[in-house]
This record gives sequence, C-alpha cells and structure tokens, in this order.
Amino acid sequence: MATIDLGALQNVRLERDGHLAVVVVNRPAKLNALDDQTIAELDAVFAALDADDGVGAVVLTGAGDKAFVAGADIAVLAKQGVLDGKENARRGQALTLRIEQSRKPVLAAINGYAFGGGLELALACDLRFCSRAAKMGLPEVSLGILPGYGGTQRLPRLVGPGRALQMILTGDPVTAEEAERIGLVNGVFEPGELLASTKAVAMRMVSRGPQALALAKQAVHRGASLSLPEALALEADLFGLASSTAEMKEGMAAFLAKRKAAWLRS
Ligand code: COA
Repeated sequence: MATIDLGALQNVRLERDGHLAVVVVNRPAKLNALDDQTIAELDAVFAALDADDGVGAVVLTGAGDKAFVAGADIAVLAKQGVLDGKENARRGQALTLRIEQSRKPVLAAINGYAFGGGLELALACDLRFCSRAAKMGLPEVSLGILPGYGGTQRLPRLVGPGRALQMILTGDPVTAEEAERIGLVNGVFEPGELLASTKAVAMRMVSRGPQALALAKQAVHRGASLSLPEALALEADLFGLASSTAEMKEGMAAFLAKRKAAWLRS
C-alpha cells in the first residue's frame, strides 16, 4: 500500500475536538466512493489515531450532505481481474479489521448513502447512527459481485442471517427507520443533528476508562467468533488484566471518594 503523508491527505479530512477525532471521507464529487488512495488514507489515519493516547474515541462520517460512502469505486472495480479483485477485498477487509480492532471506540455517523463498501465500513464501527435521510444497502449482486469488505460476515452477525440475506440477495437498500428496527443502526437523528448527537455519545465513552474501553471492545469483537466457553474464558482473562491496571485503582478510588476519575490521557 502507498505510503501516506498524514499532513497531505487528499481524500480524508481529520478533525480534532478535544479527545475526540472526526474522520471525514472527503470525495464528495464521487459520493465519497472508496478508491485505492482513500482506503490507504483511511488505513493510515486509523493507525495513527489508534496509537495516539490523546484520542479517546473516533467518529467516522462522509463529506457533503448526500453520502456517507457510496461504496467501493466502481470505476476501479470494473477494471479488476482475479488477482487484483482478491487484493482489493483483502485491502478493504484489512481496513475494516483495523477499525474493529482499534483500542478506541469508533462510531459511524451515516449522513446519507452507505452502500456496499460504505456500509461495510460502518459495520466495522462499534456503533452506527444515521440521519433520517440515510439509505443503507449492499447492492453488489446488481453489479455481478458480492460484498468483499466483510459485509457477508458482519451483517448477519449484527442483524441475523435472515435479514442479512434479504439485503445481500436482493441488493435493495433499507431506510433509516428500517435500519433502526432491525438493529443495523443504534439510532436515527435529524440530518442537522446527526454529527453533534453522535459526538455526544462518543463523549460519554471518552469520560470512561480508556483501557477498560479497549478491553471491553476486545471481549466483544474477539468473543464473537469463539464458542461461548472460549469467549467466557477470554472475558475472564481480560477482566483479570483490567484488575491489574492503575486505571482500575483510580476508577474505584474515585468512586469511593465520591469524585470524578482522572484518567491517564495526554
Ligand atoms: N463508485 C464510483 N463512482 C460513484 C459511486 C461508486 N460506488 N457512487 C457514485 N459515484 C459517482 C457517480 O458515478 C457520479 O460521478 P460523475 O458525476 O462523475 O458521473 C457521482 O458519484 C454522483 O453520483 P450519481 O449516481 O450521479 O448520484 P445520484 O444521486 O444520481 O445517485 C446513488 C446516488 C448512490 C444511488 C448512485 O450513485 C449509485 O447507485 N452508486 C453506486 C452504489 C453502489 O452500487 N455501491 C456499491 C459498489 S460495490
């Protein structure tokens, strides 16, 4: 993958609001479609944010008022053969894994169309909120392909195989209301309120223990692909790990002293 200079991003904008980072996919003329450059930039940005102890949570959204991300770039997909098709899926999947495995909570603010790779990006986030005007779907079968950035695996885990197969096999989008009803999104906001409302939820997380957040994310995401006894063993291990941290001592001392915990953030 190309080396990315974080000071000269072309298709991604990175904004900071205290301990909150807002990552904006910024290719509005193409409805923020994911070409190679955009995927490489997102990958570099999420790697940097994960390593930055000053960042407590991340909000991912799209530029403009029309689209979150209208999918992988079809102009690129149209030219791919077997090997680059596989490489393209692998790169997109690596990005979704990076987001999912980030130590920080990542919240998607779905401000419009989230199709194909766009919905798959949102599925890799920990929480999803959308605007009342948003439309979400996996239309790949109408292009003669299938979802390749994790959609066939994460969507059924989130909404169940029946609903996921309906979306994947018809390619039809769902509205914001339907997405909320089936548990695809955590909540729906008016378009003008989406970003501020998503940031407010993210700030609730920033007020919690950063290491505890990272361990809780790990328990949920790693546990999802284990048997229940294995997942419970993982939970006990992570609980044990949390019990060894200065963060736990501070969190409990703060509770007992009836004061706010002072977390170790730079
Ligand atoms: N890849 C590449 N370009 C895309 C794109 C994508 N996934 N989605 C939109 N664009 C481009 C369009 O080609 C157009 O570019 P142009 O102005 O240079 O012709 C521009 O973004 C605006 O899109 P347009 O289709 O004119 O907007 P619309 O409001 O009429 O329709 C959508 C919006 C989202 C319904 C429509 O763009 C669409 O169906 N996009 C593809 C969605 C998809 O199948 N995604 C999965 C890909 S695997």
